Amino acid sequence: MTNNVLNGYQFKNGLTVKNRIVMSPMTTMTSFYNGMVTSDEVNYYAARAGGPGMIITGVANVTALGKGFEGELSVASDDMIPGLARVASAIHQNGTKAILQIFHAGRKSTRKVLRGAQPVSASAIAASYPADSDTPRAMTEAEIETTITAFGEATTRAIKAGFDGVELHGANTYLLQQFFSPNANQRTDQ
Ligand SMILES: Cc1cc2nc3c(=O)[nH]c(=O)nc-3n(C[C@H](O)[C@H](O)[C@H](O)COP(=O)(O)O)c2cc1C
Repeated sequence: MTNNVLNGYQFKNGLTVKNRIVMSPMTTMTSFYNGMVTSDEVNYYAARAGGPGMIITGVANVTALGKGFEGELSVASDDMIPGLARVASAIHQNGTKAILQIFHAGRKSTRKVLRGAQPVSASAIAASYPADSDTPRAMTEAEIETTITAFGEATTRAIKAGFDGVELHGANTYLLQQFFSPNANQRTDQ
């Protein structure tokens, strides 16, 4: 009975969810050009809040260079906090917990999306798909440190916006996965 999906659950840190149903992150690609939240997004989450114990938002980029596609949420600067707060508050209706998914697209971004800037990754190796992927620039060690800090700053912004937590998007061949993969990471430094 305690494992019933409709029963609540308490995480070790004390956070409780009213049931064990989680809405997985699904980007709607409806943010403004700069990643700011639109009313369409707020309405999308409001329409789904209340049922699941937890809703995870679509991905939000933690730095400008981490943007992967048009219409993506951004958590890369403080001016995104008021819009993100509208999303968190829409999800909180009827007790659903709100999680912001955060990421950096790395070499899965393009010069077009980055308005001319070269995408970055662990090493200067293009993704094998799509076939015309831009070759990224290998991040400097200092950039890696800054990007790690950016994940932390993004988490602070999520907390300020009222989210209950963040999810690190480490799948789907984005930057975190690129660092784990010998296909993308052939660095010899630490
Ligand atoms: C339209 C759409 C957008 C998605 N966006 C994200 C996303 O932003 N982050 C993520 O981790 N997964 C994303 N996914 C993957 C889903 O969260 C889910 O893992 C995937 O659809 C597999 O579940 P399914 O077999 O029930 O579809 C997306 C999926 C869809 C269909």
